[in-house]
Amino acid sequence: MTSGMMAPLDRFRSWVKRRVKQWKVERIVEELKLSDVQLRKVMQLLDDEMNKGLCKGTNPNAAIKMFPTYVRSIPDGTEEGNYLALDLGGTNFRVLLIRLNGSEVSMRSKIFLVPNFIMTGTAEELFDHIAECISKFMHEEGIADQKLPLGFTFSFPCKQEGLARARLSQWTKGFKVSGVEGEDIVRLLHEAIERRDDIDVECVAVINDTVGAQISCAHEDRNCQIGLILGTGSNACYMEQLDKVETWDGDERAPRQVIINTEWGAFGDNGVLDFIRTQYDQELDAKFSVNPGKQLYEKMMSGMYLGELARLYLERLVNEGLLFEGQSSDLLSTPGRFYTKYISEIESDKRDDFKNTKSVLEYDLGIENYSNADCHYVQYVCSLVSSRAAHLASCGCAVLLNRVARPSVTIAVDGSLYRFHPKFGDIMEQKVSQLVNKGLKFKIMLSHDGSGKGAALVAAVACRIRDEQKRNGLI
Ligand code: GLC
Repeated sequence: MTSGMMAPLDRFRSWVKRRVKQWKVERIVEELKLSDVQLRKVMQLLDDEMNKGLCKGTNPNAAIKMFPTYVRSIPDGTEEGNYLALDLGGTNFRVLLIRLNGSEVSMRSKIFLVPNFIMTGTAEELFDHIAECISKFMHEEGIADQKLPLGFTFSFPCKQEGLARARLSQWTKGFKVSGVEGEDIVRLLHEAIERRDDIDVECVAVINDTVGAQISCAHEDRNCQIGLILGTGSNACYMEQLDKVETWDGDERAPRQVIINTEWGAFGDNGVLDFIRTQYDQELDAKFSVNPGKQLYEKMMSGMYLGELARLYLERLVNEGLLFEGQSSDLLSTPGRFYTKYISEIESDKRDDFKNTKSVLEYDLGIENYSNADCHYVQYVCSLVSSRAAHLASCGCAVLLNRVARPSVTIAVDGSLYRFHPKFGDIMEQKVSQLVNKGLKFKIMLSHDGSGKGAALVAAVACRIRDEQKRNGLI
């Protein structure tokens, strides 16, 4: 045969090889694509589980706890004064000083690390560390001699017994501090502050970060009825009518509504999401997470887990000889070493320009032997993992929009995953529009510094109510 005849045959062979490879990859990752029928089933299940959480009889066994927050109204713009805020629950711990003056808000803040030994230590160590950080901050700001009210954004599931009484029901997101579950975190904080004796701070409100996002956004947009976090973890809150909240045991005065912290991360913990959970969702839960069997919805859609999920799929493709000619690297084989931020970087590449993808492969993961086709598959896996997450989050938003059932609602969203991923917001806008009940309009708005500003606004309202009650001789 002449070489002229060989070339087309070779081309054909390599085309067949590429198609077979594509088909094999597709067979492995296909399970990540959820159809609208599946997404609508997820919505129905989520709505049912939320109802169970709100009903007194079913709440004790419900997976989604739907905690009433004691935050009953959104700020009216008249809030003023100086407040401290604490923000614990993501990758960093922050102390903030916030000055409210009507619509003007200014703040100063400092980030402190929470060392690993404290995340997994004892209650006393954690709260002493927090009190120490508050003290350092107050001394640096020259306000150590002032008595300031404090709003605490504590982003873990808490059963609130009042605005300033919140019992941790269970740790999430890698925290495992002993002696806190079941305890009132405000009491633990006040005891730690008393042990030091150098500052005088009173925590007047505890809020979840979802509530912070909602309140902070509602300060500017009164249609804001939903708060959403897509960061290290995922959760949402929304304003619910009191007559739908059987578990409510606070006062019945107007407004007859309360913000519910859904704690939707725990959706699926009773097995209802097993029909979409894949072998790798199960492996991540069992081997990678510190809380197996818990927060299963969150584990399919938040920053703490998406990178690892993508890594498990990439590893499978390598093991099947479909990526990097079957050669992994030590880093890519290490659990937890493919960070969610790589997904955002990789998906930020322009079409067929693999600049970021190559940089992650080479510099972050030590893989040198890759082709353009490999880069394409790496991008493809990342995009499937993140689209599934965005679609699942869309189900949650559509369910909440249907529950709120107002013609026009703003969803306040915050969190590193949403902020830094190049397409998450667009995918969600599109999917929520398809899933939500006809006639309901919505807007997704980035919330700025909810954990600080939101906490200060709630603290301001708490102080105002307390002053009123004092004046009326009620307390
Ligand atoms: C976890 C926490 C929840 C928080 C969310 C986002 O799901 O349990 O309270 O709102 O992470 O930070």
